[in-house]
Amino acid sequence: MSHPTAMSEQKESVSAWETRPLEALVDHIVVRYHLPLRALVSDLHTLLQRLRKTDSQQMLCALVQCFETFREELLLDIGKEEDVLFPWIRAKRGASAVVSIAMMQQDHARIAALVAELCLQGRTQLATRSPGTDALSFLYLERLLTALADLMHSHLALEELLFVRALLS
Ligand SMILES: [Fe+2]
Ligand SMILES: [Fe+2]
Repeated sequence: MSHPTAMSEQKESVSAWETRPLEALVDHIVVRYHLPLRALVSDLHTLLQRLRKTDSQQMLCALVQCFETFREELLLDIGKEEDVLFPWIRAKRGASAVVSIAMMQQDHARIAALVAELCLQGRTQLATRSPGTDALSFLYLERLLTALADLMHSHLALEELLFVRALLS
């Protein structure tokens, strides 16, 4: 598996998945998005825990809180998909998952808002730091957040397509 920051450099073509088999789309989402996202979220968690120990700024606390909410919601969402929804879609029963899919679309809207908030907070952090204070770590943080935003953008777009196709199947 490539490192998550490298994954974001390969552009996803969502429209290419409009006609391929649903099972292949499910596998693609797990391999190209869920696995790298788990790794990336774990890297971000470790980095933020370390930065928080050496930095008492209020703004970093807000970023860490936002990230932890995002992390919890994303891992729950991935878990529900891999344990419940994706097996249903693989068994060609996706069309009967109307309620779960509607709930997941609400989860996705919340998760997308958290990603936007995280990126905003990350940029603010970087812009307001005095030079020299662990500059490399904050640059790394910004790179990880950018990679996260890119992965999440394609991840959610593909799942929106998956949901619509599953409901129509
Ligand atoms: Fe999802
Ligand atoms: Fe997902």
